[in-house]
Amino acid sequence: MSDWNSQVEAAKKELAAEFKNLDDKTRILKSDHLKKLYALLPKVPAEQKRELGLAINDLKKEVESWLKDDNEKKVEDLRPIDLTAPFDINAKEPSLLPAQNGSIHPISQEIEKVSEIFNSIGFEIFESRNLDDAWHMFTSLNFPEDHPARDDYDTFVTEEELVAPAHTSTMQSRILSLRKSDLEEGRPIAGVVPDRVYRNEDVDARHEHTFHQLEGVYVDKDVNVGNLIATLKTFLSAYYGKEVETRINPFYFPFTEPSFEFALSCPFCDKKGCHICSQSGWIELLGCGMIHPNVLEMAGIDSKKYSGFAFGCGIERLIMMKYGVEDVRLFHSAKLKFLKQF
Ligand code: DAH
Repeated sequence: MSDWNSQVEAAKKELAAEFKNLDDKTRILKSDHLKKLYALLPKVPAEQKRELGLAINDLKKEVESWLKDDNEKKVEDLRPIDLTAPFDINAKEPSLLPAQNGSIHPISQEIEKVSEIFNSIGFEIFESRNLDDAWHMFTSLNFPEDHPARDDYDTFVTEEELVAPAHTSTMQSRILSLRKSDLEEGRPIAGVVPDRVYRNEDVDARHEHTFHQLEGVYVDKDVNVGNLIATLKTFLSAYYGKEVETRINPFYFPFTEPSFEFALSCPFCDKKGCHICSQSGWIELLGCGMIHPNVLEMAGIDSKKYSGFAFGCGIERLIMMKYGVEDVRLFHSAKLKFLKQF
């Protein structure tokens, strides 16, 4: 066997070892072991040149086949994902674990329940909007121009002077105008609006800039405060699944007269007083009252003939009281540990 034959054999072993260790396998074609073999060519006797040339070529082809095999293996590792394939429930590899099913956000779930309760006692469900105007936000609700009560609502306003509704009461006038013909036909107007509202507020455990409210309006002949209280108590005991203890205090809203605040006994401390109810034993849940005659008149309803009540309630607060959630920010936190409890 000629001397170069053993050198080709040795180079092949070295190349195989080198190939194994290379991160970038393509570098094998630039290996010194190949270069050294090519360098032999001018040195061997003329009659052996062709044979050595063929031997080196064969070796190079073999190295190229290693590269090809390696590439194919890589492609195989990248096999396409079959999204329709059934999940292997027992898979150990995280990538093969079944995807977790999403679920309906707790606020949407509770809005659904609240709506069902009101629907069952004859209320129609309405939607609010994400942008409104100052007329619906304030004027239609009997807020006098430049009245300081307008400042109680920290509204977001666009350059075009549109308002991100700071309460669902913006829908009162619309519902009244839209359904006033029902009154003439002898039916009451009964509507609720569960929807999102916005306030330019500092966020803390009890305040969010974006939250939800439930607005309610009811108009008919001879509606009185007793009807208002009975409706709210019926709703609250249906929602909480038991008789709840409520307290009613006089309050002020421009759009109701008289106006009240409805409080619920604190479920966190059983009225003993805790940090959540500011030691009072009660948590303010909603505002309500008898619809101001001006609001009815602006919507084209004869306030001498008809009267009505309205209420507005924070939906997050309603849910927090039901499930003992202490921090309103959890709802938008995207914390799965919290969300999965619902
Ligand atoms: N819109 C009021 C607020 O966000 C809540 C409210 C109070 C709504 C009394 C009403 C009502 O319909 O009658 O503070």
